Amino acid sequence: MSLVISKNDSWKMFDQIAKRYDLLNRLLSLGQDEAWREEIRTHLPSKENFDLLDIATGTGDVTITLVKDNPNVHMAYGVDLAEGMLAIAREKIKVQGLQSRIMLEKADAQALPFLEGTFDAVTIAFGIRNIPDLRLGLMEMYRVLRKDGRVVILEFSLPQNLFVRAGHWVYINSIVPLIGLLLSGHTGAYRYLAQTIESFPYGDRFCKILKQMGFVNVRLKTLMGGTATVYWADK
Ligand SMILES: C[S@@+](CC[C@H](N)C(=O)[O-])C[C@H]1O[C@@H](n2cnc3c(N)ncnc32)[C@H](O)[C@@H]1O
Repeated sequence: MSLVISKNDSWKMFDQIAKRYDLLNRLLSLGQDEAWREEIRTHLPSKENFDLLDIATGTGDVTITLVKDNPNVHMAYGVDLAEGMLAIAREKIKVQGLQSRIMLEKADAQALPFLEGTFDAVTIAFGIRNIPDLRLGLMEMYRVLRKDGRVVILEFSLPQNLFVRAGHWVYINSIVPLIGLLLSGHTGAYRYLAQTIESFPYGDRFCKILKQMGFVNVRLKTLMGGTATVYWADK
């Protein structure tokens, strides 16, 4: 099935829905978005004074959650291609008084504007399935990580239980696009969501890809009945 929106252009769609993104995120995740961000935090390196990169940072909630009340993070960078999303992130960072610890930059996950070995941790939440060339994106994450650095990836997945899976299918293929259309006015945006969730190589398949890209200590934890999965691994 062809995608209504190409992965190469998904950031343009996020630009268009930026102002409604947080509300839709809260509604469509059934209020789980905050807990999911906290989950990422639990897999960060336990060392002090580390530098972090959050890829596909969007409206900044993940970066803010990881930096706020966390003195272990020295500097954090957030990158995204959608200026509209970054503009909202900038406002939130200002409100939180975190301007000296979080820098934002417009950049493509497939061509990160950082030198090799710059970061101790790289995170990406609900962004990896939007990267047109998955392996190139992972290669870039690996490149910018320092030796022993940690990658934490949060992404949607499909539930194993057949009944839960059937309900989930109905949810992402009819309820999500309808609410997305009503609240954002964008016809394709939330259909794109279902299509990219269904085509993403989640679970053990994704762990295998991480290992092929050179990551070690690859682990995963399923969340909310398998509708999301967090993966973490070391360089
Ligand atoms: C579903 S949002 C996730 C935002 C945020 N991480 C969160 O959890 O709310 C996906 C983000 O990926 C960004 N994106 C899409 N393609 C990208 C690319 N090639 N490089 C960087 N960001 C990209 C979009 O602009 C969008 O902000």
